[in-house]
Amino acid sequence: MKTIDDTRQIYNAQAEQWTRDEPILLSDYSARPFLLELCEPISGSSILDLGCGEGYVARELMKRGAKQAHGIDISEKMIDAANHQQSQFPRKGLSFAVGDLRQKIPIDKGAHDLVVAVFLFNYLTLEETQQTMQNAFTSLKSGGRLIFAVPHPALPFLKKDQFPFYFESAGGYFSGRDQRFPGEIWRRDRVPVRVQCVHKTIEDYFHCLKQAGFRLLPDVHELKITNDHVELDPEFFEPLLDLPLHLAFQIEKQ
Ligand SMILES: C[S@@+](CC[C@H](N)C(=O)[O-])C[C@H]1O[C@@H](n2cnc3c(N)ncnc32)[C@H](O)[C@@H]1O
Repeated sequence: MKTIDDTRQIYNAQAEQWTRDEPILLSDYSARPFLLELCEPISGSSILDLGCGEGYVARELMKRGAKQAHGIDISEKMIDAANHQQSQFPRKGLSFAVGDLRQKIPIDKGAHDLVVAVFLFNYLTLEETQQTMQNAFTSLKSGGRLIFAVPHPALPFLKKDQFPFYFESAGGYFSGRDQRFPGEIWRRDRVPVRVQCVHKTIEDYFHCLKQAGFRLLPDVHELKITNDHVELDPEFFEPLLDLPLHLAFQIEKQ
């Protein structure tokens, strides 16, 4: 599968559309505020941000009191954008590096209180997802947590290809496993951004976590549009009312 090369190209080509210091993308409203709350308490924490993009989540976690955060991303342009922001408004303890999480990357065993992966696993195959979760497990302290979000596996089968968020399914819910579904997610200023989803079922995520070494039950949330979103911008959010948009997982290492 060409997913990773495509991913790098996609993000190198659209790093500018992602660069932000306040919510602009649909998922900055529908997912990231929830995930940031889920990460609490993080005061004094050491955080690893897998697939950090241009660093939005890592910066927000630092603003909330994390002691250090290190972000890794396959896209050089996204990391350039993250480093640029860091040079403009330096934050002690925040760093970024280019890296392909499919490859062997140096892992500091038991070093982190929290590993986050915000919309990363939808770019990885099942095997790569399991391996990356295993790396996350290894890098966590005992009692540390992995928090991640992915597109809701049901969404491509419930919603047609249109504004403001969709994935084009290739195959059915089960036969489409490990297939790459192209999609788009819009910014509030109506600029579309290309995204992808290597489809997995709900069962797949649980299985990957178990294979990676996690033994406790994950805390799982199905994220959706709320009435507050609709009040803010009806035209933008209303088409998504009542649909399952994202899945958020939180799981602790024993
Ligand atoms: C949807 S973006 C999310 C970025 C960031 N986590 C956020 O929430 O703003 C997904 C990111 O995963 C990165 N990515 C995908 N595959 C990767 C891989 N194999 N290794 C490292 N990063 C990867 C992409 O380059 C992209 O920046």
